[in-house]
Amino acid sequence: CEKQETRPARQRLLVVANRLPVSAIRRGEESWSLEISAGGLVSALLGVKEFEARWIGWAGVNVPDEAGQRALTKALAEKMCIPVFLDEDIVHQYYNGYCNNILWPLFHYLGLPQEDRLATTRSFQSQFAAYKKANQMFADVVNKHYEEGDVVWCHDYHLMFLPKCLKKYNSEMKVGWFLHTPFPSSEIHRTLPSRSELLHSVLAADLVGFHTYDYARHFVSACTRILGLEGTPEGVEDQGRLTRVAAFPIGIDSHRFIRALDAPQVQDRINELKRTFTGRKVMLGVDRLDMIKGIPQKILAFEKFLEENSEWQQKVVLLQIAVPTRTDVPEYQKLTSQVHEIVGRINGRFGTLTAVPIHHLDRSLDFYALCALYAVTDVALVTSLRDGMNLVSYEFVACQESKKGVLILSEFAGAAQSLGAGAILVNPWNITEVASSIAQALNMPPEEREKRHEHNFEHVKNHTAQEWAETFVSELNDTVVEADLRKRK
Ligand code: G6P
Repeated sequence: CEKQETRPARQRLLVVANRLPVSAIRRGEESWSLEISAGGLVSALLGVKEFEARWIGWAGVNVPDEAGQRALTKALAEKMCIPVFLDEDIVHQYYNGYCNNILWPLFHYLGLPQEDRLATTRSFQSQFAAYKKANQMFADVVNKHYEEGDVVWCHDYHLMFLPKCLKKYNSEMKVGWFLHTPFPSSEIHRTLPSRSELLHSVLAADLVGFHTYDYARHFVSACTRILGLEGTPEGVEDQGRLTRVAAFPIGIDSHRFIRALDAPQVQDRINELKRTFTGRKVMLGVDRLDMIKGIPQKILAFEKFLEENSEWQQKVVLLQIAVPTRTDVPEYQKLTSQVHEIVGRINGRFGTLTAVPIHHLDRSLDFYALCALYAVTDVALVTSLRDGMNLVSYEFVACQESKKGVLILSEFAGAAQSLGAGAILVNPWNITEVASSIAQALNMPPEEREKRHEHNFEHVKNHTAQEWAETFVSELNDTVVEADLRKRK
């Protein structure tokens, strides 16, 4: 994507995330087909009307040859996307290694991998070096495409080193950073060998955002306790420079879900599902197949429920959609086999010749199929062990206007702070408690279900992803960068 000759009418927003919102599939030496993934961030940014968004990120494929890179860059430019090319070794060390084997589990309170800490310090260091190198590669691409007046929004734990790299290039660049995962207690963060370097780098941003007030508070505590800086109600102060830190809870494009329910293909699916599960209550789990989602614990709680409530044994079915993710990381491979083993055992134990209690799918569903599934569900089980926000809980609520089903929600998901009043909150580690919440949900009187649903529906309908993005970006745009201040003096 070449620099444009004329400036666009709207201010430009450069959205930098590890993954671009498109998947690229190679069709030939110089031919690519692109599939847009209509994820939360994409629809959120469609709502930011005063800015023209451009995406910068990794296309998720290895493109070693220049001809392929040129062709992909050209194809992506039409989708307002700019690729960062990472080779296989960097992806292995940065993405599989430092991001998904170290930062991700740590930020979700699963600790650092023991073997890395004890035996392979070298590998820990080389993963961190690759992380910094990858972040620098993102910075190079941003810098190449940056034009004066642009606002740069960096996303997530993959890019904690980016704000610092960008400010080194240009201290006048307006840089925001938002974390989509939890930020853990400072006592957890301080176990990370590179704890200070990462904090200092994030603090180079002008605005730092989290989903909840608690995560923001943890971040400020980490800066005060580990770096010895001063925390103020506004953020963190370092030698007279303030980095603003605040909570910006994300939402979904609720109207897209509500509208979809009227689409003929969704109505057909709903009728089909109702016929398939006649006489049975439908319970639903939709998760990426990730340790933090607590899928084994959830299924074990369902088993306990069946064990203790034999009258429900043929009258309820659990549909678990487990979307494969990060399949090159060994921990994720282990989890897949573990889940399959538990599901097989429970189906063997409670199944009949014609029905099984758990339908487990290792794949994603398309948007319309998902909406239909949400709409026929009686009880949704969102029982993450930790989760930044969890938007499945929001999507379920958005699709429940006619059914008014019950949401069982982990108290360790960010969403518990917004949907806690309408949901049944549980500690997902407590299998007995989750089992009895399932019984409570299935036996809940309609008036109570309605009241709880209305409470959550109002929230989901009104706190949209668009509003989230707009608030963050306009707040970022209003921050006065240090270089401006110096000029004014
Ligand atoms: C989480 C992270 C996102 C990430 C997504 C999917 O929600 O916060 O940054 O894109 O998981 O994970 P993947 O590693 O497959 O991109």
